[in-house]
Amino acid sequence: MAVEIAATGSGAPSESQVGAILAKHPAERSALIPILQEVQAKLGYLPEEAMCQVAEALGVPEANVYGVASFYAQFRFAPIGRKQVHVCRGTACHVGGAPKILAEVKERLGIGEGESTPDREYSLETVACIGCCALAPCAVVDGKVEAKLTPKKVRELFQGVQR
Ligand code: FES
Repeated sequence: MAVEIAATGSGAPSESQVGAILAKHPAERSALIPILQEVQAKLGYLPEEAMCQVAEALGVPEANVYGVASFYAQFRFAPIGRKQVHVCRGTACHVGGAPKILAEVKERLGIGEGESTPDREYSLETVACIGCCALAPCAVVDGKVEAKLTPKKVRELFQGVQR
């Protein structure tokens, strides 16, 4: 699915897009999660400015909005990269060395889980299982399953990536 990153010239997300989402919901705390889900669906992540706008509209402290959003794994606080990297942390992959694979991917890309590279080329997530347990440890990189990974293979995969 293509992700629309709405931004003004200054890089701030469009207030009007968040405003349009807010207008569809009652201005009450119970609407917070559905609103955050819609904002993320529209912008691809939850920019700080958008969370502030939501907090103001609902009359709740910004810290509460961030607290709720950070509780749920579905929410992101950074834009998704053009190439998504999903490292499997399921049981078969874990036993096969997923922690080392994840550490190497983080090292190569210079980012942690839920983050994107500054050029937005890559973003990194972990997943519970990608359904290729016989190929463990594995990851999906830009839509392609990379099987039987080793730290060396990861270095080769991301060779040339500028950090
Ligand atoms: S545990 Fe990794 S693919 Fe199933």
